[in-house]
Amino acid sequence: MSEIPKEFDPEFIRTRSTPERQIYRAENTSTEPMKSLLKSNPEIYFVSPKRRSEWGTWEYKPGSYYDTTTGAKHPAWQDQDLPEPTKDIEQLRADLLRWGYCKVEDALSADQVAVVRQRVLDQAEGERLAGIAQRTPSGQNINCCVNKGRCFELLIEQHPDIMQGGPLVEQLVTEALGAGWISTSMIAALSMKGGVPQALHQDQGVDLDSRSPMSVNVLTAVTAIDETNGGTLIIPGSHLVLSDAVREGRPVGKLPPAINLDAPAGTTVIIEGRMLHGTGINRTDTPRILMLNGMNKSWMRQQENWMVSVRPEVLKRASPKLLHRMGYQATTGGHTTEGHGFGARGTINEAAGAVVDFRLAADRGEYMRVGELGSESTAEELKAPYTLREVVSKARAGGKSAPVGIGLPTREDLASK
Ligand SMILES: [Fe+2]
Repeated sequence: MSEIPKEFDPEFIRTRSTPERQIYRAENTSTEPMKSLLKSNPEIYFVSPKRRSEWGTWEYKPGSYYDTTTGAKHPAWQDQDLPEPTKDIEQLRADLLRWGYCKVEDALSADQVAVVRQRVLDQAEGERLAGIAQRTPSGQNINCCVNKGRCFELLIEQHPDIMQGGPLVEQLVTEALGAGWISTSMIAALSMKGGVPQALHQDQGVDLDSRSPMSVNVLTAVTAIDETNGGTLIIPGSHLVLSDAVREGRPVGKLPPAINLDAPAGTTVIIEGRMLHGTGINRTDTPRILMLNGMNKSWMRQQENWMVSVRPEVLKRASPKLLHRMGYQATTGGHTTEGHGFGARGTINEAAGAVVDFRLAADRGEYMRVGELGSESTAEELKAPYTLREVVSKARAGGKSAPVGIGLPTREDLASK
């Protein structure tokens, strides 16, 4: 055996990879803007109780970021032109750019709110009865809502049947994230009396010097929210302050105080991923319900792994749009299965169907993956019913296959000629 060149020796590499020699080291190890932010604004730090037995008992510290009120009532903010609920697309654009959030008025009609509220409350009760409820520091979350009611599937689609203002919300999200964006999760967040506030944070975890958001959160108020019941804590305009500081390589200074988001039920608040926010405190006896529907650029990984978790019933009835939002992207270069996802459209839905076919085969315990093959492979191995064959040939039968596919002549085809 020939000797391995010394340049490939791990020890040789290590001695030449001291921190100062590494490329992009500053970028890849930066903890900005949070590091300097916490230094200049230590009062926004909050650590949730760690033990279950501590739920409901915590020390309220007057003067902390969570000891606040709505923008209209806050002395530091009441003269500012903060976002108000509106249906005016120009105003919504301006609010999102300047303040990092906007409020779409009556995005859900009263009837649509009632449908979602009923489903959330019933599911929350069911999960408690089943002993699988997720207790959070502020109350209860219902995760993976896409499996828990038709209304949630439609909400992810921003379908007018459940969100009358869906087309307007969709347009704004598309402008913020660019075409092809996907959903990262759909959670119903119930904030309850006794819960703690959440530390202020940015949802966006990458490219914090970006000039536009990498993610947005579409928050829908299923109950009215205000300073009494856990209206989300936000620092308006912080998205620009923080991304500018990172881009210019300077520390974040003192920020203005946080306020509680307030909105009537049925309002959809679009919050961009760079803006500082956190769950507020509910001091009332009624649960505060917010639907949290995060959206990402199409190439980012999702919070909820819907490739694994979505129920087959939901997949079978999902529209191309819902499949795309759930990350079943077969067409935009994002996701493929065994390399043949893109272009090879399945039979269940035109777009993304091939990916669904692979998933459903796995559900049946019948997903046969292509493994090692070679000139010595047996006839049985070569003729095996690989799921790839089935899915791609089904897609071709529909006449919508891409120009690339499978099916070059086999050894036997060649021998018979
Ligand atoms: Fe968040």
